[in-house]
Amino acid sequence: MRRGIIALAAAGLLAVTGLTACGDDDGGDGGSADKKPKIGVILPDSKSSARWETADRKYLEEAFKSAGVDYDIQNAQNDKNAFQTIADQMISSGVTALMIVNLDSGTGKAVLDKAKQQGVATIDYDRLTLGGSASYYVSFDNVAVGKLQGEGLTKCLTAMNKTKPVVAYLNGSPTDNNATLFKQGYDGVIKAKFDAGEFTKGPDQSVPEWDNAQAQTIFEQMFTTTGGKIDGVLAANDGLGNSVINVLKKNNLNGKVPVTGQDATVQGLQNILAGDQCMTVYKAIKKEADAAAELAIALAKGEKKDTGKTVKDVEGNRDVPAVLLEPQSITKENVKAVVADGFVTKAELCTAAFAAKCTEAGI
Ligand code: BGC
Repeated sequence: MRRGIIALAAAGLLAVTGLTACGDDDGGDGGSADKKPKIGVILPDSKSSARWETADRKYLEEAFKSAGVDYDIQNAQNDKNAFQTIADQMISSGVTALMIVNLDSGTGKAVLDKAKQQGVATIDYDRLTLGGSASYYVSFDNVAVGKLQGEGLTKCLTAMNKTKPVVAYLNGSPTDNNATLFKQGYDGVIKAKFDAGEFTKGPDQSVPEWDNAQAQTIFEQMFTTTGGKIDGVLAANDGLGNSVINVLKKNNLNGKVPVTGQDATVQGLQNILAGDQCMTVYKAIKKEADAAAELAIALAKGEKKDTGKTVKDVEGNRDVPAVLLEPQSITKENVKAVVADGFVTKAELCTAAFAAKCTEAGI
């Protein structure tokens, strides 16, 4: 086990998350010290958010490479059968640790349980699999993400001096536990405003599988049924926010109706610079990927780590050892922080159409 700790420390991974090594190298959590460590990662799709392919894959790859560990990262492209098939292939190809971003808890659970039976250690990456059996959960404080969205929208509505604004909700996928946590966070802020009669409750709908095209149709319907009387939109991520902005643009209302987001995607940040999006939530995915990679490498070698924290899986009635990182709110004032952190480059963000806005924003 010593050797493992030294290798991780050398890769700079221990320093990033402050995880501590514990227990003996007994391989008891799946990964075995006798087998050559290999890590499998299944990403969910490439459309519900740009993050999975542009950020998560890149940072995970970097972490595995710098630790010199064998890995295989695949994307299920939102196909539940493909998700299972990839997992089967990875298990039979000898991965010693498997990291998944589930497409829903049922599919996730089937894969985690099968891996466990085969002695493969598992991690829930970003999304908790309810009723699942992963050894660790690595994510952000997702209720805090929602809270930042609720506070951001409230601030924008207040700054615009709207009286009793009608607030519509476009929630994430109903099968993603994160979407539930985000909603818990923004409800916690906005419900009080509804109750106090300061805001008016508008339509509230979930977007199946975070599908951006469906989000646009759903918001178009919301807009029609309310006769265009929507003053602010709590959209759960940048993709959904952009779908809302598309509809607002058609009605010459972009920039007049604040919209939230999440993920600090290039498109989301450009929408903020243009004044069409009120805020986004930046999640430093490099930190998430580094923490998950560190745990996966330890598990793949048959080691255990103490995360110092757990989250409750209410369905499985289980405390899952967890790493939860802090999200950050981004508005026009601090878009530059995302560039400074290296998450997006100035070249990607400040294309010709946004060059002047970037200068204004100090980028
Ligand atoms: C992630 C978000 C992402 C969404 C859609 C959620 O589980 O936490 O970052 O925008 O899925 O992919």
